Amino acid sequence: MISPMPDTYYFEDRDAALAAFGARLSEPKLRFFRSFGMDIVMGKREGSYFWDVNGRRFLNAHCNGGVFNLGHRNPEVIQALTEALGRFDVGNHHLLSEARAAVAQALTAGMPGDIEKVVFASGGGEAVDTALKMARGLTGRSGVVSATGGYHGHTGLSMATGDAKYREPFGPQIPGFVQVPFNDLDALDAEVTSQTAAVILEAVPATLGMVVPDTAYMASVAELCAERGALFVLDEIQTGLGRTGTLWAAEQYGVVPDFITTGKGLSGGIYPIAATCYRTGHDRIFEPDPFIHISTFGGAELGCAAALKVLEISSQPDFLERVRAVGESLSKGLEVLINPADGPLIEVRRLGMMLGLVHRTDAEGVLMSKILFDSGIFAVYSNNDKRVTQFLLPLTVTDSEVESAIEIYAGALERLATPQYQTLAKALAPESVA
Ligand SMILES: Cc1ncc(COP(=O)(O)O)c(C=O)c1O
Repeated sequence: MISPMPDTYYFEDRDAALAAFGARLSEPKLRFFRSFGMDIVMGKREGSYFWDVNGRRFLNAHCNGGVFNLGHRNPEVIQALTEALGRFDVGNHHLLSEARAAVAQALTAGMPGDIEKVVFASGGGEAVDTALKMARGLTGRSGVVSATGGYHGHTGLSMATGDAKYREPFGPQIPGFVQVPFNDLDALDAEVTSQTAAVILEAVPATLGMVVPDTAYMASVAELCAERGALFVLDEIQTGLGRTGTLWAAEQYGVVPDFITTGKGLSGGIYPIAATCYRTGHDRIFEPDPFIHISTFGGAELGCAAALKVLEISSQPDFLERVRAVGESLSKGLEVLINPADGPLIEVRRLGMMLGLVHRTDAEGVLMSKILFDSGIFAVYSNNDKRVTQFLLPLTVTDSEVESAIEIYAGALERLATPQYQTLAKALAPESVA
């Protein structure tokens, strides 16, 4: 029986921890969470749940974009890491590495086509930067086309692919980066020119609202890139490692992009590691000088131990079959709640266990996060389409947890439809309430 962590670890109590957080990290963040009555402090965590230090339990349907694909503190990942701690440390990225070789082999074994090479990174933004940097070097061009409302990271080139609100506060922009609407081939066609080094897209853009593209879209993008001499980067930092029901979403789209980036879940939720995987041949960029790209913690040998275990678990056919089955039962349970005429839920977007629950208005989407929170599910709305509640349960979720998630969501939906919440929704966004 899991008992909640009784109190704080570093501070006398929760209030002291929050005061130090506000003073030393971010007062605005603290104010934001306080204003919604959501100023919890993560304490104990295990499996599909985490607890506030005061003992409130939350089913995690956010999973940090897939970091907790295998649940919190997955015992197999912990065991692999514990064993590795008896032998390894971070390692030395200047040297040749047995651990990195083993993970690169395991990682590319399940990738489509001739994606056979890997550069490791410590986080997703860095992995994206590496792909874009390589594409610029390989093509001798500087332009990058990305999707409006997409998200690829907070670092240099990855930040430049993102929306204005994530980059404009931080000074002059990198020239040559343009955005086009996702899932719109004509728009892409108009922007991919002889100056375009790369097109980068998420397999399912989460921040945009879990938009699942048309079946043929990604293959057409790959074709367009090949025709124009641009390289195609498929960002699978959220979608990879089984989240969409196959190890990589690229398999379902029938594409072999030039690059696949991965991160988040590769860490097992325990030790950060990310990777840029690419087609053999593109490694010529490192031929003259293999030391022009370095990353001290990229592929840290402890991270490699976590990643190897994650890959071993996530690539099992039974595991992927289970993801597909749970995805099906989730959509069955949720789709019956759709009521476009006069209910708040209007659409369920889904690929495998990557779900976006679309509500009628931004205000309803935002309120839904709060109602779910109060009901014991942690789920957030998509920042660039607040109507959409991102619903990412751990891939290891049990049947009874799935049932309970559906039940809680149905209850939350009923509450959202009550006059009390509808008045609040109207007050928050009067013009957009149907
Ligand atoms: C699709 C996608 N790409 C890249 C990133 C950046 O990853 P990181 O925060 O590890 O730098 C994220 C993070 O949310 C993401 O969702």
